Amino acid sequence: MSIIQWQSTFELNIKEFDDHHKHLVDLLNSLHDSILSKSCKEKLGVIIGELIDYSVYHFTAEERWMEEHKYPGFPQHRDEHIAFTRKVSQFQKDFNSGKVELTLDVLTFLMDWLIEHILGSDANFGNFARRLSHNDH
Ligand SMILES: [Fe+2]
Repeated sequence: MSIIQWQSTFELNIKEFDDHHKHLVDLLNSLHDSILSKSCKEKLGVIIGELIDYSVYHFTAEERWMEEHKYPGFPQHRDEHIAFTRKVSQFQKDFNSGKVELTLDVLTFLMDWLIEHILGSDANFGNFARRLSHNDH
């Protein structure tokens, strides 16, 4: 069962990043499935690892774009990425050492962060990209 449905309001109209965001939504949905079906710790650990690796890959791609296009909101945007990556990496450590469990609350945090980030900060740079491409023509 999906916990997040892809919505057109998530679209930045930058295909590369929309595809990345769709993949992140898929990963959160599979995490949700795995929690509901009470998957073993190893399986959950693998998805958490994938989520972190893919987020880092995606954030790096966004940040490269922002730097190349001299996006004024770049430092702030990067800080949001850093804060998220730190938080999830800390969670991963605690999860692996058995200190914490992966609960629906954790998933809700991840989901809320992603949606808020896409609709807020990412949408802002999507608008910037749109203005940029209008000015080019
Ligand atoms: Fe972002």
